[in-house]
Amino acid sequence: MREIKRPTILMCPPDYFGIEYEINPWMSRSRQSDRDEAIRQWNLLRDELLALGVNIEMMTPIRGLPDLVFTANAGLIWNDTVFLARFRHAARQGETEIDEAWFRAHQFETVMLPEPWSFEGAGDALFCGETLYAGYLIRSEASAMQWLGSEIGCRVIPLQLVDDRYYHLDTCFCPLQTDTALWYPPAFDAYAQAAIREHIPRLVEVSDKEATRFACNAVVVGEHVVLNTGCPDLCDRLAELGFTPHPTPLDEFIKAGGSAKCLTLRIDGEDAAIWPA
Ligand code: ARG
Repeated sequence: MREIKRPTILMCPPDYFGIEYEINPWMSRSRQSDRDEAIRQWNLLRDELLALGVNIEMMTPIRGLPDLVFTANAGLIWNDTVFLARFRHAARQGETEIDEAWFRAHQFETVMLPEPWSFEGAGDALFCGETLYAGYLIRSEASAMQWLGSEIGCRVIPLQLVDDRYYHLDTCFCPLQTDTALWYPPAFDAYAQAAIREHIPRLVEVSDKEATRFACNAVVVGEHVVLNTGCPDLCDRLAELGFTPHPTPLDEFIKAGGSAKCLTLRIDGEDAAIWPA
């Protein structure tokens, strides 16, 4: 039996991080990230999480896989099982064998989704309570999400993403408690907006401006919420609700279309991340 301390987060240092291709609207090869600054920001994020009592597990970075830093996309964790990603874009497909090897070496059962569905892990699949909220269309496929729901035996709420800037669910939606989530409504189609409103009683709406600062891409550790800087309104709102916001600079990673949450994967289960209501 795999023994893990809680909460446990998988991260991958940004030694080979950079903007080497363009697969989302944030990425531009002409707007390179600064390697030293990326390392500094990544270290600050790791230190912030360590200070919150998080146990950090580390994946070894690989040259030529600049987005391996975004461990949220490695897969969806369900107890001792990881449903591995099948990336939409060829540029990231080389990550899966690295992820698979890591999870096997750490006593996880690894499962690949049936072909040909693409699925980008915890970037698009987030538990809020017992329900799996599942972003689809831009990166992951709805059929993949339904298949996961039947494997896991949970309810799946498929959510169509309609704004290319918010191409993964974790860029526009973040469960905080079983009855509470952050979200940026314009990233969803009307049906998805209605579904979220129907199922989650307490919704904290993020402004256009703070959405572009990746306000929704937050790491939740109990009542603590770690997120990019430049989201003062959300920080105030979180404090009113009894949460403690921890802003930390992540601009180098925004250049690749990612922030705090993308750089982490809860390996004791996404469902464990939220603060029990
Ligand atoms: N450049 C990466 C991509 O476009 C960023 C991934 C961000 N990850 C996330 N979970 N949203 O795939």
